[in-house]
Amino acid sequence: MNISVIGTGYVGLVQGVILADFGLQVICMDVDQKKIDRLNAGDVPIYEPGLSELMHKNVEAGRLRFSSDMKEAVESADSIFIAVGTPPADDGSADLRYVLAVAKGIGEYLNGYKVIVDKSTVPVGTARLVGETIQKELDARGVSHEFDVASNPEFLREGKAVNDCQRPDRIVLGCDSERAKDLLKKVYNVLYINQTPFIFTEIETAELIKYASNAFLAVKISFINEIALLAEKVGANVQEVARAMGMDGRISPKFLHAGPGYGGSCFPKDTKAVADIARKHGEQTLVIEAAIQANEKQKAKMIEKITDSMDDVKDKTIAVLGLSFKPDTDDMRDAPALTILEGLAAQGAQIKAYCPQGIEESKWRLADIENQITYCHDEYEAAKNADALVILTEWNQFRGIDLERMGKLMKGNFLFDLRNIFAKDEQVRKLFQYRPVGRT
Ligand code: UDX
Repeated sequence: MNISVIGTGYVGLVQGVILADFGLQVICMDVDQKKIDRLNAGDVPIYEPGLSELMHKNVEAGRLRFSSDMKEAVESADSIFIAVGTPPADDGSADLRYVLAVAKGIGEYLNGYKVIVDKSTVPVGTARLVGETIQKELDARGVSHEFDVASNPEFLREGKAVNDCQRPDRIVLGCDSERAKDLLKKVYNVLYINQTPFIFTEIETAELIKYASNAFLAVKISFINEIALLAEKVGANVQEVARAMGMDGRISPKFLHAGPGYGGSCFPKDTKAVADIARKHGEQTLVIEAAIQANEKQKAKMIEKITDSMDDVKDKTIAVLGLSFKPDTDDMRDAPALTILEGLAAQGAQIKAYCPQGIEESKWRLADIENQITYCHDEYEAAKNADALVILTEWNQFRGIDLERMGKLMKGNFLFDLRNIFAKDEQVRKLFQYRPVGRT
């Protein structure tokens, strides 16, 4: 079985590597020649635990190749996975230009029956549009080939992408042909025989499942963040509230951690996209729109928490630990750190920042406030002479920092723990003016 995966971003690269590891012959194709050169040189362009080892193993085994040749990628494949980006347009809708460019390319080179699989998160109706685009190209060429388009949304989380792809909770396959279904069962044979649940459904349903899942998780986070704001006002403990809520099987304890607001490449983009889809169909997703607003408010509240506690942050030095939107990734897309650091800088603060992986991307994403940020090599360098310490992302290594040493290095003694990683530590309240989220 030959598979081509078009697009070597998070989803495409991880998917390609895992399918090769499942024993299939895989070409990962990208129009970005520089990226392909890097991959061919054995360099993984993203930080994702476990990915590099698995990539090298499968390249060496001769199952995985990288190419910028669309013709070869299309002609050699039994199934073509589209995994290119769908960035948000100005109005929040998903920009389909890359997906449709790939569909056109597939139509240009299609040479026999293939199943085209939409992996990118796309508005409902896109699979049909992909099919029409391919058919239009075939008509222009004056040739006739059968093909099917299926929707197979990806649910992987950054930082845990390899495991999520190897052991998914479920595989959702939206397709309307038995022939495509049989071929896709073979593609995912390893998971099929391992009894991973397979949901075979209509194409539109599969497309909506992805948006509904991401939007629901975003709602859960915004919900608990609102409860955290309330808990602070009434003197309650949001962690205990979440724990007790989570014991109700209908609620579940996951995605009930209060924090500085959700970020990343999916939740902010997909919540806005689903709201846009609803508007285009004459509907309004009130709950999802409220979650989006609450998330913006949460980030603003974090700035307020810091500036109010310190009276004024002008000319104060604030040490920030963690910049990436979550641990174990170098991804800064829509990271709360961007808004929060810009907010603090606007009020005159000087920032000393450390993140195990997020610094390189922060440098260009925060270029507008570069005069107010010093990037540091570790936690202790960041803490030196700082008036306050802010924990923005819960990297595991921060849990083990020597708080006493940090306290001695600092000039002031505020600790804003926006991920509650030290909330259960008795010593922390003796050493610092400790400010967690949603509790005392
Ligand atoms: C998410 C979905 O989980 C995944 O299924 C989908 O395919 C892509 O989007 P990802 O963005 O990689 O994955 O990270 P995730 O672990 O879901 O976290 C998203 C954001 O929510 C992060 O900013 C995280 O810090 C925040 N979050 C998560 C919370 O604030 N509280 C929580 O309880 C959980």
